[in-house]
Amino acid sequence: MQTQQVLAPKAQITILDTGGQYCHLIARKVRDLGVYADVRPSETPVAELVGARGLIISGGPHSVYDSDSPGIDAAVLQNGPPTLGICYGQHLMAHLLGGSVRQGNKGEFGFAHLDFTKARPHSKLLAGLTDHQRIWMSHRDTVTAVPPGFSVLATTETCDVAAIEDEARHLYGVQFHPEVVHTLEGQRLLENFVFGICRCAKDWNPKSRIPVVEQQIRDTVGDRNVFFFVSGGVDSTVAFTLCLRALGKDRVRGVYVDTGLMREGETEFVREMFRKLGADTVAVESAAEQFLSPLAQITDPEQKRAIIGEEFIRVQERIVDSRHLLDGHWILGQGTIYPDTIESGGTVKAAVIKTHHNRVAGIQKLLESGRIVEPLSSFYKDEVREIGRELGIPREFLDRHPFPGPGLAIRCLCAKANAPLEPIADGFIAPIRSVGVQGDSRSYAPILVLSEFPSEGGKLQGRATELVNASHDFNRVVALVATHQPLSAMSVQSSRLTYERLDRLRQADATVRRMSAQHGFERQIWQFPVVLIPLGTQATPDSIVLRPVDSVDGMTAESVSMPDVLLRAMADALLSIPGVCSVLYDLTHKPPATIEWE
Ligand code: XMP
Repeated sequence: MQTQQVLAPKAQITILDTGGQYCHLIARKVRDLGVYADVRPSETPVAELVGARGLIISGGPHSVYDSDSPGIDAAVLQNGPPTLGICYGQHLMAHLLGGSVRQGNKGEFGFAHLDFTKARPHSKLLAGLTDHQRIWMSHRDTVTAVPPGFSVLATTETCDVAAIEDEARHLYGVQFHPEVVHTLEGQRLLENFVFGICRCAKDWNPKSRIPVVEQQIRDTVGDRNVFFFVSGGVDSTVAFTLCLRALGKDRVRGVYVDTGLMREGETEFVREMFRKLGADTVAVESAAEQFLSPLAQITDPEQKRAIIGEEFIRVQERIVDSRHLLDGHWILGQGTIYPDTIESGGTVKAAVIKTHHNRVAGIQKLLESGRIVEPLSSFYKDEVREIGRELGIPREFLDRHPFPGPGLAIRCLCAKANAPLEPIADGFIAPIRSVGVQGDSRSYAPILVLSEFPSEGGKLQGRATELVNASHDFNRVVALVATHQPLSAMSVQSSRLTYERLDRLRQADATVRRMSAQHGFERQIWQFPVVLIPLGTQATPDSIVLRPVDSVDGMTAESVSMPDVLLRAMADALLSIPGVCSVLYDLTHKPPATIEWE
């Protein structure tokens, strides 16, 4: 965070974070407009916000009536700059200024259409937007009465107060999420706020900051050398390359840790990648046994994540000790990007969406003692890709689909004990706990299995959204693509994270990647997790879930439908893997489900 202040200009737009996972998306979308935006805790006193030309209060998982719900400095709404409240931000604005908010039980997650009222022609916020355009909702509570001075600019079929403004006080609010790509004219709305209302000037272009970043690396590192733990992912690769350029190849070293939780061929790919980037100083550390043995009896997903995080630290400490890397001549380099600096506690009330291992205690100590360099800590992922392209890093490295740090472990679901499926009118409920994100916080719930084939065109995806919105019993819906056994003969099988199951998943994942690359489907989507779930019979205990999604940044995502021919061929190939009972297709968008299953 210190580095960020050195590298970045002063923010013209500050996002006040009320704990919502879309808060970074808002900042990123403002930066896409060429205006530097940062994220601060929602309670930041107005005196510390002097200089911002506009504020955006983010959405968040709370209700304004919760006893511990995040607030804002009330002075923001009296003498702050123009302010836009999004979702919870709008509720907060209405609540603090004398309007009313109704608490909802179930809520609305997904698409809606925005209909203008008679007040909209005078609105600066909605200027140039099209009536009845598609928007994206994710909320439980709604504003039922606007505060004095406000007018209602737009409604939806189910929401009477979808956009509001008080032009005299420069206060604006929307119930929907203009920052997500599913709101078709969301960027136009943000443009109206940033330029039309706040009168910001363009001041941000990540590419033009490369020389500044390189100088920053030289200043931080001084006469020491830099050591990286590289993952093969975009962030650490770009950070490593920046250090190579800034310091020269003799002063930068890297280690890639093989956790045994990697995909097929990954270690060889990474070795070759760094060789091509001119860094033949990246070594491979094999540590499969160290990760897999403490995970052997674990079925709880959060425990899995914690163990993997701890083992990462142990391996890192071992390497650091054995190579005397912190003897004063070395400094640790990391590919930490801006959201990572905030997600694990940089903000006061952030709901924990995932725990990031770049911010665990050992590393935190290094950070505090100044023995760390994080050249990308001001940038978002797509800005990092832009920098990577500018540096001449080949596309095959920059355009890789994201792959989670904990690896295949969080795609290999386990079950403590056998359990039957429950037939309901729409299909079968399987008591396999998968994670979802409704109203911005993580929730584990069972899945609903439909016995219909997910034909291309995405019709079943629409149904899945309706089913999840209407029920508290599951947070994810999957369709049966192909099977050796009818659903009525399947049950949840007691299972652990064994070498055998990981190999099964690795084989399935490699099959899917190969077929989807050959077909060209891989290029059309953002990420394609393949998940092994313990659903089947004693002889064939597992099923494979296909989870192709489209997204811009992983914050929201759409379940994408696949060409029937490819899907059928893929399912045939997967059913031939020993131990696989059926192939399923995840139909759920994010929200309400997350991309990963754990
Ligand atoms: P979710 O499942 O939260 O995932 O919708 C959003 C994006 O983040 C990736 N992901 C992770 N990446 N460490 C990582 O480095 C993690 O623990 C982790 N969990 C999820 C996920 O693959 C998707 O791209």
